[in-house]
Amino acid sequence: MAFYSDEIIEEVRAANDIIHVISQYVNLQRKGNSYFGLCPFHREKTPSFSATADKQIFHCFGCGLGGNVIHFIMKVENIGFKEAVEFLAERANITLPTDSFDLGMSQDELRKREARKAEMYEINKVTGRYFYDNIEKSKMAQDYIQKRKIDARTVAKFGLGFALDDNGLVKLLQEKGFSEENILATGLVGKTEKGYLYDKFKNRFMFPIFDLKKHLIAFGGRTLEPSDVMKAKGIPKYVNSPENLIYSKGRHLYGLNVAKTSNQKMKRLLVVEGYMDVISPHQAGVTNVVASLGTALTEQQGRLLRQYADEVILSYDSDEAGQKAIQRGIEILQALEVPTRILKMKDAKDPDEYVLKFGPERFEKLIDNSISPVEYKVDLLKKEYDLTDTSQKITFLTKMAEILSKVNNNIERDIYVNKFSADLKVGREAIIAEIEKRTIRNTFKTKNWQAPRPITVKRETSSSDKEKEQQEEIIIYLLTLKDKDIFDKLSEVYSEADIESAINKNIIQKLYNIYKSGDIINKDLMLVCDEDEEKSLLSKIMMKMNTRDDKERYALELIRSIRIKKLQAEKEEILQKIQELDKLENTQNTEDEKRLLLNRLNEIILNLAKK
Ligand code: CTP
Ligand code: MN
Repeated sequence: MAFYSDEIIEEVRAANDIIHVISQYVNLQRKGNSYFGLCPFHREKTPSFSATADKQIFHCFGCGLGGNVIHFIMKVENIGFKEAVEFLAERANITLPTDSFDLGMSQDELRKREARKAEMYEINKVTGRYFYDNIEKSKMAQDYIQKRKIDARTVAKFGLGFALDDNGLVKLLQEKGFSEENILATGLVGKTEKGYLYDKFKNRFMFPIFDLKKHLIAFGGRTLEPSDVMKAKGIPKYVNSPENLIYSKGRHLYGLNVAKTSNQKMKRLLVVEGYMDVISPHQAGVTNVVASLGTALTEQQGRLLRQYADEVILSYDSDEAGQKAIQRGIEILQALEVPTRILKMKDAKDPDEYVLKFGPERFEKLIDNSISPVEYKVDLLKKEYDLTDTSQKITFLTKMAEILSKVNNNIERDIYVNKFSADLKVGREAIIAEIEKRTIRNTFKTKNWQAPRPITVKRETSSSDKEKEQQEEIIIYLLTLKDKDIFDKLSEVYSEADIESAINKNIIQKLYNIYKSGDIINKDLMLVCDEDEEKSLLSKIMMKMNTRDDKERYALELIRSIRIKKLQAEKEEILQKIQELDKLENTQNTEDEKRLLLNRLNEIILNLAKK
């Protein structure tokens, strides 16, 4: 199930207080040991959702969902286990191991790795400072800065710099005593076959990339060659740091560290392609811009965006790669339920150019006029057809209806119908009719063809069933106490075979196994019982028992009564067996057996007398 080690998961869980986390989603009211609020997972008017600080679990008595803080985030953010751990790690500022090599790493190895990372950050930092200082020494760099209309404040704010062509960086890094291994790992320096080290970035304008903790994790270096020379000589326009221990491209957004601190509350974040598309708008006062670096948005970047913005506006180049990136971006953001719009740019190839050409006010206006994914898709579709041709127009309308039929919200759909009917000069009724054809077909597909639901008949639970169920719940509760003494007493009288309900049996078996392995204290029970049904039951039991003050006494009483019942049952059984043996012929075997039984009977009677 889990990708991260148990220790890391536990660290993340422990670092995120469940009450704090839930409070960001639910208005909680304290009542004694527990907190109550309206369940975020089902509609309700009176609170049946609860959580406890001491047990660090939640449970809804209405819908039955329950678990620990990780499970809460999984449900409320609708993400997987691993993602929820990452989400909470980020919230608590815990750095998670970044790759699969970390599986099963020892503490010592982890420490070494942390030390390596720290040195790599330091190497990048020293390098960033060095590149920045180089600007003063290079006429070429200064000219470029002027040409791109970047002012000194912006250069400083984004830590821009220049890589000279004199192997100065290698010298500096060696002087500072950094290890060769780590210098090479940053990708700033290469090594020849003969073993000489050399600067990899030469005559390039340098953009440092920072993470949210302000570590300098990578660089992007742009050639200063004009584009014809660049193309003729086959020089890449940008060269970037390689992915390594501290840098993984798809996990970061360029400029987020700056955007985050420049905006009180970032309602809207604009996502662009390039470094300069962040920097130019920022300089002009449009500070809510980040770049996905490289074309398509990744899921991790989508999640970062969701964390920092209420709405995302995609602004990629209008070339084919850019359009693909938009479609992928829409998919990713919609899956994460992030409201998304798309910026339509005319008369400039990217935001950098647009801002320089038309100024920030017009750029802001452009942002305000961003279109929805539906409009974007219809626009794209429109380009494929010649709408002056009747038969093409009809094909277009049917395809458009298909897009619109997927809009679930009626009001929203209505708005689009009005808009497109005006834009395309087609009657509303015609569009609606097309959509209805689709939606009827859709419903038919999804509803009518579903296998009929099996009818479940609820069995009346008899009182002894209830009693049994309650008893099993109490046993589960006792096991959640992580008390070895109680377990010993309990396991003496109660074995897995005594459990009737399948789900209880699963849980009790799992818990018994951890007790037997001797590692109960360090285990999060919610992670051990990780099936939804199990978590639900476990959290319910813990929450219910949490409200009883006399639970210890109650528990011990229960163990006692189970023990007595079991002894009595055994006594009956032995008496019966002895009677049967009495009916048989006396042989050595029957004599021996009878003696054993009588001994045991004696024990039982003594035991029962003690109770
Ligand atoms: N990019 C890259 N490697 C390349 C080309 C592009 O990493 N060989 C990334 C860079 O982050 C770049 C972005 O993709 O900023 C967009 O590329 P492009 O549109 O070609 O460059 P611009 O950002 O417009 O760069 P400039 O304005 O300096 O021409
Ligand atoms: Mn550009």
